Amino acid sequence: MVQLPAMEHLITIDSPLFMAGADLDERPAWDMIFGNHNPLVLEIGCGIGDFAVALAGRNPGWNYLALDFYNKGCLKTCRRAERLGVQNIRVIRDEARSFINRCLAKSSLQTVFINCPDPWPKRRQRKRRLVNAAFVGLLADYLLPGGDLYFTTDFADYGLEVARMMAGQERYENVLAPDLWRHDLAEYPRTKYMLKFMSEGSDIYFVHYRRTADG
Ligand SMILES: C[S@@+](CC[C@H](N)C(=O)[O-])C[C@H]1O[C@@H](n2cnc3c(N)ncnc32)[C@H](O)[C@@H]1O
Repeated sequence: MVQLPAMEHLITIDSPLFMAGADLDERPAWDMIFGNHNPLVLEIGCGIGDFAVALAGRNPGWNYLALDFYNKGCLKTCRRAERLGVQNIRVIRDEARSFINRCLAKSSLQTVFINCPDPWPKRRQRKRRLVNAAFVGLLADYLLPGGDLYFTTDFADYGLEVARMMAGQERYENVLAPDLWRHDLAEYPRTKYMLKFMSEGSDIYFVHYRRTADG
C-alpha cells in the first residue's frame, strides 16, 4: 500500500515546466511536449529536484520527468531548473504508480531513478515501502529493453532488502555484479537526503540493474 501524504496546502506553481498529474491526459505525447524524440528518464520522489536538475543540465540530449507528490518540492524543483536555465525537464506532481500506469507508454523509459525513498523503518510499516517486487515488476513493463533502474538509500535494512529482492528478478540483470550493492557510484549526483545521511556517517546503498532484452 502506498502511503499518501497528508493534505498539503497547495501553493500555485505557475512554471511552464510544471504539470499536475490530475490535469494530464492519459499517455500524453512526451515527444511533443519536449519537442524531440530524446530518451526519457524518470526520477521518482525527486524531492527538491537537486538530482534531476543536475542530471538534466549535464545531459541536454535526454528528457527528464521529475516526479513527486509533494507540492513544495515540485515548486522548488521548477525554481531550480528555471534558475539554472534547464529546459529538458518537466516537473510532475503525482503519485508514482498512478502516474506510471496512466501517463507512460510501456517500454518508453530509458532510465528510472529512485533516490532515498521514505524508509518506513518500523517493522509494521515496511509494507508501505514503495520499492518491492511488485513495483520493480511494474517498472520493468515501462523500461525499454536495456533500460536502467537505480535505487539508493541510506537505510541499511531497505538497501539490503531491495538488493536481495532484485537478485531474484528475472527481467533484470545486475550491472554491479558480482556485488549486489555498492556504497559509491562514480559520477552519481548526491541528493539532499544522501548528503544529510552521509554527513551523519551513514553509508549509502547503490543498487543498479538493467532490464534484460527479453524481459
Ligand atoms: C525521503 S524523500 C527523498 C527526496 C530525494 N529523492 C532525495 O534523495 O533527497 C522521499 C520523496 O519521495 C516522495 N514520495 C514518496 N512516495 C511517493 C510516491 N508514491 N509518489 C510520488 N512521490 C513520492 C516524497 O514526497 C519525498 O519528496
